[in-house]
Amino acid sequence: MSVLIAGCGDVGTETGLRLARDGHHVIGWRRSPGKLPDRIEGVAADLAGALPAIPRDVHTVIIAVAADAHNPSAYRSAYVDGLANVLNALERDAVSPRRVLFVSSTAVYGDAGGRTVDESTPEIPGYFTGEILLEAEALLFRRLAGTATSVTSLRLGGIYGPGRTRLIDQVKSGRAVIPDQPRHTNRIHRDDAAAAIVHLTTMAPEPDAVYLGVDKEPAELGEVLRFLANELSLGEPATGHIPLARGGDKRCSSAALQATGFRFTYPSYREGYQAVLAGIGTRHP
Ligand SMILES: NC(=O)c1ccc[n+]([C@@H]2O[C@H](COP(=O)([O-])OP(=O)(O)OC[C@H]3O[C@@H](n4cnc5c(N)ncnc54)[C@H](OP(=O)(O)O)[C@@H]3O)[C@@H](O)[C@H]2O)c1
Repeated sequence: MSVLIAGCGDVGTETGLRLARDGHHVIGWRRSPGKLPDRIEGVAADLAGALPAIPRDVHTVIIAVAADAHNPSAYRSAYVDGLANVLNALERDAVSPRRVLFVSSTAVYGDAGGRTVDESTPEIPGYFTGEILLEAEALLFRRLAGTATSVTSLRLGGIYGPGRTRLIDQVKSGRAVIPDQPRHTNRIHRDDAAAAIVHLTTMAPEPDAVYLGVDKEPAELGEVLRFLANELSLGEPATGHIPLARGGDKRCSSAALQATGFRFTYPSYREGYQAVLAGIGTRHP
């Protein structure tokens, strides 16, 4: 039995390595399959073009593609057209997986004025990123409705981890600014994102349709920046006015994911960033 990971980058590769370690045969689709480790069978595939044959024994499909650029056409091409193309290939090859998991984003929620957001919160994206991801999710649920395939969208918060050091770099370079207004941020360590995907695609009871994939502690951006400055033995970053980021101000809850039995290795930014600063793990190219 095989697992197919379409768009097998950093999160996809970490997921694939964990599944391979658990005894699964893992196929990774991407345009540059030579970057994949040996334990994943790399196959050259452009989700925007003609796709390779899908082996009959594929029982799980994970779609973890990311857009090449930050604009609506790149997003639509990767998430909506790419996903439709994968679903067409499944149909073409008469493969009916037991589970399909789509890696989505908390961007589907937009700004919530600092309130808690969970799976029951109406999705009002307010920006093209979340709008297009919602469109992709809707396509996925529509296309597989009424089939035997269980479909899950895992909406990840900001991913950080080995080599993903945007905030650390800002603090080190003195460019970090502590917002003068409350600004909650939601994140997940790359390894926990991969572990959550493994958990949801392998757990015995069928998973729900949607889960938020964020750690246990939504945190004010200023609090995280102060923590990083302290860990780096640097002075506190300056405070100033910065416009509300596109993701807005919200506190995402992963209570539903935790209720499935999932346990975080990095329950908050503190453990996660300490591991990154200690050089634990590597970013998958
Ligand atoms: N970054 C964040 O903070 C964040 C937050 C929430 C959700 N997410 C979601 O998390 C998921 C995984 O992110 P990641 O960090 O693992 O991204 P990543 O490292 O950039 O991996 C995405 C992979 O997709 C492949 N890809 C892109 N276009 C493709 C195409 N047309 N055909 C086939 N493969 C294609 C790329 O490989 P090739 O270039 O070799 O094709 C790349 O390795 C994405 O769905 C992203 O939207 C990210």
